[in-house]
This record gives sequence, C-alpha cells and structure tokens, in this order.
Amino acid sequence: MKRAHRLDQVQPSLTLAITAKAAAMKAEGADIVSFGAGEPDFSTPASVVEAAKRALDEGRTKYTPVAGLPALRAGIAQWYGREFGVEVSSDEVIVGVGGKQVIYNALMSMIDPGDKVLIPAPYWLSYPAMVHLCGGESVFVETQAADEFLVTPEALERALTSSGASALILNSPCNPTGQAYRAAQLTALAEVLRRHEDVVVIWDNIYAHLTYGGFRHTELVSVAPDLRPRIVTTCGFSKSFSMTGWRLGFAIASAERIKAMTTIQSHSTSNATSFAQYGALAALDLKHADLESMRAKFERRRQVMLDGLSQVPGVSYVPPKGAFYVLVDCASYFGGDDVALAKHLLEEGHVATIPGAAFGAPGCLRLSFALDEASIRKGIERIGQVLSRCEQTR
Ligand SMILES: Cc1ncc(COP(=O)(O)O)c(C=O)c1O
Repeated sequence: MKRAHRLDQVQPSLTLAITAKAAAMKAEGADIVSFGAGEPDFSTPASVVEAAKRALDEGRTKYTPVAGLPALRAGIAQWYGREFGVEVSSDEVIVGVGGKQVIYNALMSMIDPGDKVLIPAPYWLSYPAMVHLCGGESVFVETQAADEFLVTPEALERALTSSGASALILNSPCNPTGQAYRAAQLTALAEVLRRHEDVVVIWDNIYAHLTYGGFRHTELVSVAPDLRPRIVTTCGFSKSFSMTGWRLGFAIASAERIKAMTTIQSHSTSNATSFAQYGALAALDLKHADLESMRAKFERRRQVMLDGLSQVPGVSYVPPKGAFYVLVDCASYFGGDDVALAKHLLEEGHVATIPGAAFGAPGCLRLSFALDEASIRKGIERIGQVLSRCEQTR
C-alpha cells in the first residue's frame, strides 16, 4: 500500500490499544471499569435534541454557509460576550466539525513547513499530531507537578527565545492534567507574549465550564485584550453541553484569521452538519442552571476519585481544577513504564486507564471521572489492590 510520509510520525493513538483490549474483554463478559472516557456520559439536553429534530422535520438539510449559519455565528458571539465579558462580532466566529477540526484549521491557516509550535507538556495528544500533519514541528515545554503542570513565564520566555516558535498552544483547563491558569498567571504569560510579537496563540478552552472547587475560569483575551489580534480561541459543544457526537466546535479570532480558516474549511468539510447547527442554537439558550447539574455531578465524582486515590499507596496527583481527568503519577511502579502498568491493571484488575506517555506524561496514568460514583469507587479500589501486590521501584 502506498503510504504518505506524513503518516510516519503520526501513530494511531496509544489510547486505542488499551480501549480496544478493554472492549474485547468486556465483550467476553469481563466486568471492566473504564477510566478511559474522554466524553461526558450524560444525554444531550432535551431542548437541543428537539431543535435538531425540528430542523430535520422542516427540511433544513441543505448546505449552510461554510463558516456556519449566520444565526449560530451571531449566537456564539453573543454567548461568548455573556460568558466572558468580551465583545465579539459574528465575522470573528467560525463553526466547524468539532473543536478538533477548528484547531486543525487554525494550524493549517498559520503553519508553513518547518514552522515550530510550542506545546506545554503534558498536552492533549492530538496537538502534536495536527502540527505534524500541517508540516510543522512541535517543541515541548516540560511543566512540573510543583507548578501544577502550568507553564511558567520564565519557561515560556526561554522556550520562545530558543525555539523561534511562531505559535503556542495553551489549553486551560487542560486535558490530561485538569489544571487551569488563574488570571495573574495569564497576565504574566501575556507579558512574555508581548515581547514575542509574531507568536500566534491557540487558546483551547473547551473545558472552561467544567471547573471545580470554586475555581473560576479566566480567558486569555480578558486579561490581555491587546493580544487579541493574535489569539485564536477554540471551543466546542462537546464537553460542557454533552454533545460529543454532534461534532460541533467553533473558533473566535480576528475576522482575517476566520476568513483564512474558512478558506481551508471550504475545501475539506465545508459546513458542519446543518441540523446539528440548529441544535447548537438551542444549546446557546440553555441557562447555567440547566448545565449545572452535569457540572455538579462531575464535581462529586471528582471528590470520590480523589478520596479513593488518597488511599492508594505510592501514587501522587495534583487535584484537578477543571475538565474530568486526574493525572496520576505512578512512576514508582513498573520502573515508570506506564504502558506496561496500564496493561497490568487491565489484565489483573480489570480496570482500563490511559497511559500518560500518550500525553507527554510518562510514568503517569490518566483517569477520567466521566463515569458513575459506584464504578469510580470500585475501579480505584481495584487499582489499590493490584498495586498493593506490585513492588515499588522508587
Ligand atoms: C483539550 C481538548 N481540546 C479539544 C478537544 C476536541 O473536542 P471535539 O472535537 O469533540 O469538540 C478535546 C477532545 O477530547 C480535548 O480534550
């Protein structure tokens, strides 16, 4: 088979091997607890489903403008202003097929072959793959648990200066760490960015509404409005609205950047699915109270997971402020081989976890708390039992 060279550095996701094995064991009747989920386990809110059904009944099944229904672009602009106090106009919004696609289109619109893109590690595993597919080169900036896995201004300054990167991807709250930047930390990072005038920032805030322990999300543009022309904010309906399968994301950026992304999108997917966009319009009308029950459930599950993990010997973690993941440092087991550990936990404890190596976090496991409390308790107990039989090597 002829295989393009661009595939050479893009591995099929490491996570797939574990989840496929877990699925096969489940199919054979094993009682598997899966901490692998990257999506909420709640139904999409009924009003959103109804709106999409209505759109189908009304025959709204044709192409829409490439960048999205004008009403949806305007709705997102208003919603963003309401949520974050930043005024946005519809020509600064593009709707695409998921947060993933808008990030990809953003990179496609700004990266030339050989350009460097700075990515703090641990990172969402699709960023480096996307950078590579665009012909760019990822440069990772390691972060520390002691800094809550957030990039410090000093590290950012050093990395930008030494790499000459033309773009930076920031993800807050972050998958896989669950950590998020406070306003003061963003102000300090903005100070660095002002010294690097040509650097474009992709600001992925897809988990902005899923925060815990009283933490309040801050937008980068809110603390640094002067940097707005070079910030591309990417978001989507998947996580906070429980709409992963709808494939709807959006970006907010300068009208010029949005035009460039629209050109890219016009030659790949064109518009996001028409009737899904009508559903999204209804999602924007949901009140905070309508979404709060999902967030509150995540908050309780997070606590159950942290309580359970506190009883497991030899592991450590930084309690997440957002998203629905805990990154657990298990480096004292299996000589830090997280892939071997995940395999062992699946085989011996019937618990599926995601090896941290996939996210630039070797020695760690990512545990999602997008599952019910009883399963979380059961799964963490099993992890504790399996690890209590393993030798600690550190
Ligand atoms: C950090 C982050 N950004 C973006 C996405 C993209 O989500 P979607 O394409 O479903 O909108 C995900 C999904 O897992 C994610 O974790």
